[in-house]
Amino acid sequence: MIQFEVQLGTRAYPIYIGAGLLGEPRTLKQHIRGNHVFILSNERVAPLYLESVCRALEPKHILHLALAEGEDTKSLQTLEQVYTCLLENRCGRDTTVVALGGGVIGDIAGFAAATYLRGVDFIQIPTTLVAQVDSSVGGKTGVNHALGKNMIGAFYQPQCVIADLECLHTLPDRELRAGLAEIIKYGLIRDAEFFAWLEDNVERLLARDVDALTHAVHRSCRNKAEVVAEDELEISGARAMLNLGHTFGHAIETGLGYGQWLHGEAVACGMLMAARMSTRLGWLSEEACERTRALLQRAQLPLTLPETLQAETLLEHMARDKKVRAGQLHLVLLKDIGQAVLTGEFPASTLKDTLQEFCGS
Ligand code: NAD
Ligand code: GLY
Repeated sequence: MIQFEVQLGTRAYPIYIGAGLLGEPRTLKQHIRGNHVFILSNERVAPLYLESVCRALEPKHILHLALAEGEDTKSLQTLEQVYTCLLENRCGRDTTVVALGGGVIGDIAGFAAATYLRGVDFIQIPTTLVAQVDSSVGGKTGVNHALGKNMIGAFYQPQCVIADLECLHTLPDRELRAGLAEIIKYGLIRDAEFFAWLEDNVERLLARDVDALTHAVHRSCRNKAEVVAEDELEISGARAMLNLGHTFGHAIETGLGYGQWLHGEAVACGMLMAARMSTRLGWLSEEACERTRALLQRAQLPLTLPETLQAETLLEHMARDKKVRAGQLHLVLLKDIGQAVLTGEFPASTLKDTLQEFCGS
């Protein structure tokens, strides 16, 4: 088992990575202070992994709620359902909330823990690759609002993160590939050596080789932990780098209608758009841009947009992005592989040309 810490002073916590950790009581139990545990999962994950977690928690008093699958569940209505369950069962401040699932479950459970009785303990057990390498680390929690994704939330760090690689065996291929996009992101923004390792090992990851997955999850979490330790609340700009490809990606997701492409798929295409735009600006070499395209393609991520999507539509969605400051859109772009910059210093025409290159109109 690999263990290391997200260094956040009094809010520091360990990340455990390994195969078979769910059924291992010591790791989980040492982070539970009281006798009451509330496990939040969903209808797909619970039948697969709930029993192992419950066994590892014996003889604690366990309450469980399984939500419906999907992004639509990440809502204020669901949150109300969670609070009602906790209140009806008289859960007190000695309750630990455990998120067992992907990013949707982790985000809801984390926000419920942050706000129930003004804050109770919280543990992340991520079961998707996206959740293991991204959403379970760093304390961003929340739900969607009809007017925007992730608009209601809080920074709330967990007691620990337990990433059991065996959970990835039941993950659909498409969800695994979406996780690969977030892994490649760390190589592109700050870890050129990891990017080169991914170039040598992407097929092993697609084949779910446990050693390769262990290395990739570990290196990704280390990168994320370092960024979060530097800029927990996304103030200095360091954490904003994690949004490489996301402004383009959100525009693609909105333009196509949520649910058409997975978030990781849209981010993959968005990262290539950011790379192409960086090359147009003369910041990123053609060779580095081609390496980016080739790796994303070998990870079997979509890199061309449906013809129905127009550059003008994408531009409109991007203008509404959270990263618009004083009317100026800011984007994470690349100076090199492993070197990202957050900037508003680019001609609008370069962005437009990049979008047109991908949209064809
Ligand atoms: P998800 O939680 O919807 O999970 C994807 C699918 O996989 C679901 O259908 C789920 O039921 C299923 N699943 C989960 N674990 C499984 C397993 N082991 N075997 C088989 N099926 C399994 O999606 P996700 O990609 O994990 O997360 C996306 C969500 O995370 C989005 O809401 C996004 O906004 C959020 N997110 C948050 C952060 C953050 O920092 N908090 C970062 C990235 C993404
Ligand atoms: N997923 C981006 C962040 O945690 O900041």
